Amino acid sequence: MADTLSVVDNRTGKKYELPIQDGTIRAMDLRQIKTGPDDFGMMTYDPAFLNTASCRSAITYIDGDKGILLYRGYPIEELAEHSDYLETAYLILFGELPTASQLQAWTHEITIHTMLHENVKKFMDGFQYDAHPMGIFLSTVGVLSTFYPDAKQIFDKGSRLHQTRRLIAKVPSIAAYAFRHSIGRPYIYPDNELSFTANFLNMLFKMTELKYQPNPVLARALDVLFILHADHEQNCSTSAMRNIGSSHVDPYSALVGAAAALYGPLHGGANEAVLRMLKEIGSVDRVPEFIKRVKSGEGGVRLMGFGHRVYKSYDPRAKVIKRIADLVFTVTGRNPLLQIALELERIALQDEYFISRKLYPNVDFYSGLIYQAMGFPVEMFPVLFAIPRTAGWIAQWEEMLLDQEQKIARPRQIYTGPKVREYVPRDKRS
Ligand code: CMC
Repeated sequence: MADTLSVVDNRTGKKYELPIQDGTIRAMDLRQIKTGPDDFGMMTYDPAFLNTASCRSAITYIDGDKGILLYRGYPIEELAEHSDYLETAYLILFGELPTASQLQAWTHEITIHTMLHENVKKFMDGFQYDAHPMGIFLSTVGVLSTFYPDAKQIFDKGSRLHQTRRLIAKVPSIAAYAFRHSIGRPYIYPDNELSFTANFLNMLFKMTELKYQPNPVLARALDVLFILHADHEQNCSTSAMRNIGSSHVDPYSALVGAAAALYGPLHGGANEAVLRMLKEIGSVDRVPEFIKRVKSGEGGVRLMGFGHRVYKSYDPRAKVIKRIADLVFTVTGRNPLLQIALELERIALQDEYFISRKLYPNVDFYSGLIYQAMGFPVEMFPVLFAIPRTAGWIAQWEEMLLDQEQKIARPRQIYTGPKVREYVPRDKRS
């Protein structure tokens, strides 16, 4: 069986043999299909890239039908069980799990880069008192490019590694400062004796005590949530990171764009929408009525936290999160909205509407409940997503830079505007 696709152009009667590799044809192979010498050649039209692979990647694998998510070949469930965020970030960035000494060195390098320049702090002070923490976060990440002009050396491996360490280490500090600023509390310097997530909790929640002692269950829960969010192949924000990075701008500037994409309610904001939905439902006995509304399509109401473009079975991250929720609630007390969420899930999983459309809980269905129980306001949810996704963004950015096939990203269009027309002087326009 030949690995080719035969295409007959019925406009000309010509036949073409297009090679198939990895289940794909190359869009550029279509360019030879022309009706005549003046024809530009055939293109594909794929709004929102529903069926276009834009890169080769060895980082994350998703099988949406089977509910499988692998980082560099390792199942997400095993990483969530045995690993921690910094080790997972190392795996995502460098391709292999670190040895004990590599992990120690990596953890040390990250820990010693957690401090922010005092002028970054002053920059953050300039934000309005009630500024959204995600707005503060992404602007401040952009500012880092002015502090580290060496980041422009994107083809210098040493420089890339340096910026990688800085970014992984500093995003929690920026996130914590953004949170403290938005609630009018003084910034807390990092405590390098604490683990990555324990220190993050310290920078978020420390008050007047001399030494902050984070609850180990909550620090571990956050660590697992960070593992689950570290990468998710070519989603909207990662595609933004690759696109912007393809212009060869420094990684801080590219990361601002990725974080901005994550800020949008269709990407990083769905868990907030879940909380709003649960509040609106209000009590378990109103769940059937709500499900009825969703099914009728009335007012475009959707069951938030359900369904996924890629997963057509239970999102494997949602399964882990559900277990973590139980752990967190033993410390914080049960989030009163949990009962409503469980009932929604129970009914939806038995209902023909959701079964036939393959709609299952996604990562956002339970994560908001956990964050809320841990004391985070909803405005912090996208920031909490951006911290671990930084590892994925940088890994994908570097993979793009080193890929010989990649160039500056520049999609084509189908022009639908007017043909050429003559300029009309202002006094002659009607
Ligand atoms: N509730 C009710 N019906 C739904 C839902 C839902 N959450 N999601 C999809 N459907 C229906 C939709 O109405 C359509 O039905 P029909 O065929 O009768 O018209 C069918 O299922 C297919 O939906 P679609 O909109 O074509 O699917 P999509 O792949 O374009 O959308 C989605 C995926 C995630 C945007 C969508 O499922 C959704 O809006 N979910 C709720 C929001 C949400 O939880 N988003 C977080 C996604 S995970 C975050 C991440 O990984 O970054």
